[in-house]
Amino acid sequence: MKVVIAGSGAREHAIAWKVSQSTLVSELIAAPGNPGMALLGRTVAQDPLDGAAFAHWARAVGADLVIVGADDPIAMGLIDDCEAAGVPAFGPTAAAAQIEASKVFAKDLMSQHGIPTGPYRVFDQADAAHHYLDAPGREYPVVVKADGLARGKGAIVAADRAEAHAAVAAMLEERVFGASGDRILIEECLVGPEASVFAICDGERAWPSGAARDYKRIGEGDCGPNTGGMGAYTPTNLVPPDVLEDVRQRILQPTVEALAAAGRPYRGVLYAGLMFTADGPQVIEFNARWGDPEAQVLLPLLRNDFVELALAALAGRLDTVPIEWHAGAACGVALASAGYPDAVRDGEPVGGLDSWGDEALLFHAGTVTDADGAIRTAGGRVFTVVGTGPTLAAARDVAYRNVERVRFAGRYYRRDIGAREIAATAT
Ligand code: AMP
Ligand code: GLY
Repeated sequence: MKVVIAGSGAREHAIAWKVSQSTLVSELIAAPGNPGMALLGRTVAQDPLDGAAFAHWARAVGADLVIVGADDPIAMGLIDDCEAAGVPAFGPTAAAAQIEASKVFAKDLMSQHGIPTGPYRVFDQADAAHHYLDAPGREYPVVVKADGLARGKGAIVAADRAEAHAAVAAMLEERVFGASGDRILIEECLVGPEASVFAICDGERAWPSGAARDYKRIGEGDCGPNTGGMGAYTPTNLVPPDVLEDVRQRILQPTVEALAAAGRPYRGVLYAGLMFTADGPQVIEFNARWGDPEAQVLLPLLRNDFVELALAALAGRLDTVPIEWHAGAACGVALASAGYPDAVRDGEPVGGLDSWGDEALLFHAGTVTDADGAIRTAGGRVFTVVGTGPTLAAARDVAYRNVERVRFAGRYYRRDIGAREIAATAT
């Protein structure tokens, strides 16, 4: 089979790495790909955000399967475009991906179907939202959220009334998120540890496919601004098998059934961002794809042939393929450029890659190959280094030992990925 991976981040590199191990695959093409993906197959400068052109190209090259990694192309209908062109594509249609692209859609679906999530109100008029915040007895903090995609920045945890008013004004009046903030939600602020839980879905079934902890903040100890994700590990004590089964029964499976009943059958990876509150797991948000960096730690532990799973999902036959895991743990550390998540300086030469070996996995994100064939930085998150091992502590040691080998000016990474769970397990 000829398989196309759409995207260019470390998540897509991890997907390509996993797909490259499939015995079903004879040719792998990454579009646009990155220098790491170029070691696994051909890269072609095709833009997944231009869905019609991408689908036309995929058909012309004879692709048997397209796998899409990121949220934007999915929300813009790349899967629909591929299907229209007759190219099988693994991922949800734009209609099903509304579960991520519209937080109002997701909340309404959950409340209609009794899927556990916190209380919320929807506003499209600033006056009404301000009035709601001023109601006597209104408790703070609250969470103010843009309805649409906002590059992970659309949720503001407002500590007090003033911050909440400012967030409403920014979204509905100043339109800082553009049309994504034309509708907003004001949610009750839930409290508890968070985990990302994944399911591969075939339109009818949600097959649990791993749980991971993600580190969203830039700074150690979870301080500073939110990022795309600075590291992750799996498995986690927060989601042992019985909890995962509970999440499957009360959250993942009912969500897939609700989407099917709404005429939006969901095929692809469903990502539930969960908060484990005193009342049990509650959905903070859904995403219509793997997490980044969660995919980088989950895929190395997945025993299945991912292409076989994707084909079974597309055929509505996941019941024929049980998901199986390697024993042990994986820990991933993102290496970022100085200044991330704000503006960064690109073009720094990267050293230490030549003798990489196979002790740890190195997934590229913001890298380019220069005219001399050398790798340079080109973005905020530059690599994810992933270690695996029999325990989280062992996996973490492998990751950090190898992080030190990747050298570029301004290299930044968090040193505390996985540390708290290891400390808690040791006591
Ligand atoms: P989101 O953009 O929905 O993923 O939200 C980003 C982050 O904001 C989440 O990972 C949570 O840490 C926090 N958050 C979002 N919604 C809530 C909520 N209702 N209660 C508490 N924290 C929240
Ligand atoms: N790691 C968070 C995300 O992919 O959205």
